[in-house]
Amino acid sequence: MSDLKVVILAAGQGTRMKSDVPKVLHKVLDKPMVEYVIDASKEVGAKDICVVIGHQSAMVKSIIKDRCDDVSFALQKEQLGTGHAVMQTGDFINEGNILVLCGDTPLIKAETIKEFLEYHEKEGNAVTVMSMCVDEPTGYGRIIHDKYGAFLRITEEKDATEEERKICEVNTGVYIFKAEALCEALGKLKNDNAQNEYYLTDTVELIAQSGKNVSAFMGKDADEFMGINNKLQLSRAIAVMRDRINTRLMLDGVTITDPSSTYIGSDVKIDRDTIIYPGCMIEGKTEIGKSCIIGPNTKITTSKIDDCVTILTSVLDRAEIKSMTTVGPFAYLRPDSKIGEHVRIGDFVEIKNSTIDDGTKVSHLTYVGDSDVGKCVNFGCGTVTVNYDGKTKNRCKIGDGAFIGCNTNLVAPVEVAPGAYTAAGSTITENVPEDSLAIARSRQENKEGWRKKSNK
Ligand code: UD1
Ligand code: CA
Repeated sequence: MSDLKVVILAAGQGTRMKSDVPKVLHKVLDKPMVEYVIDASKEVGAKDICVVIGHQSAMVKSIIKDRCDDVSFALQKEQLGTGHAVMQTGDFINEGNILVLCGDTPLIKAETIKEFLEYHEKEGNAVTVMSMCVDEPTGYGRIIHDKYGAFLRITEEKDATEEERKICEVNTGVYIFKAEALCEALGKLKNDNAQNEYYLTDTVELIAQSGKNVSAFMGKDADEFMGINNKLQLSRAIAVMRDRINTRLMLDGVTITDPSSTYIGSDVKIDRDTIIYPGCMIEGKTEIGKSCIIGPNTKITTSKIDDCVTILTSVLDRAEIKSMTTVGPFAYLRPDSKIGEHVRIGDFVEIKNSTIDDGTKVSHLTYVGDSDVGKCVNFGCGTVTVNYDGKTKNRCKIGDGAFIGCNTNLVAPVEVAPGAYTAAGSTITENVPEDSLAIARSRQENKEGWRKKSNK
């Protein structure tokens, strides 16, 4: 649909979340719930998106702005109803086709919105409401048709009669309006109802009364319109989203041994024959290649992992790993760790803001921070790059084929040239020339007969 504009309602407080965080910012997997609604809007080709904010608007705005570009905002100072919320968008709704979505329904799918828009165009409607049939309609607005099946109005639960409350076709809160019809109806909106609110639902009745074409389009999958009002519903939405993403990945050839304990974000890409063991969380814009083995119990955030990498029980945050490398158990790769091919990062190893080139082994109990490490370097157990002098961070440089003895401290800035060795237990403060051995510890002295002399 051309000239499609989207209004996303997100001004409400979400009292039932019992939270200091505004409702639409609560996360479903790795993203705030409102972001899924914005993503779906973009996927159906929306030209402009306006989010109506109100409750804790500064926080909502800054978090959305950080994560999504091309979104504008309208402020609803007082939350006087869904119709009032749409009014606050001002000129935004003056022309085009206006799709209205709620910020608290993250499970809505772009493909469903597309079908809905096609139906709306085909029918030549002034407004189309997305409805759904549910077994338990409590809380939803009911869709009221006349005896010939023509759309009459939407009646909110609190304003409905006993008979109307039995109706199981309900309003999902998704609408597509022709701009003129919407603006005209908003101008006539009253708040003479049980909640003294300006209901957006009433605009549909007003448009029908003015003789324009109005109808409801029934969505097939009620899960998609699940509105999240409390943390129990939030957990259900997370489970639905998790299953959707895992299903897609498994059908694309990823092995997930226990999908119910595997949480993968919607932007994560994983190639075929990779195996994900239980207890993994993979988030952000992570990319994982073919035939990797991930987990169990591993957390990966926005990292890039090439083919045939094994990561066992470790945490990765904004790291890059080339193929055939193994990581863990219990390794922590922090931002800007760039690990080469055939590297071994072993147990209790932390890497930060460092490059580790091909074939290097950092096998145990080691911290490498702010360092450039060449190819085929061997780190002895317990090596520490001493990168912080209390004021600034400094870098260490370790050349190809160097051998760092166990328990070496490399006090940065310092360079160990290619092929050089450091003796175990050394604290290296001066550069070590190529192919030499640096010993930086006091010599051992044996005091013969000491035990007897000191009466121990
Ligand atoms: C609304 C519909 C109802 C529908 C249901 C679907 C109305 C009057 N009722 O009811 O027919 O079945 O959604 O989930 O529209 N919001 C604002 N400003 C406000 C009030 C609400 O921005 O002044 C936002 C909320 O943040 C939320 C959305 O609008 O994202 C829906 O509001 P909510 O109070 O949850 O409406 P419901 O009672 O669920
Ligand atoms: Ca709701």
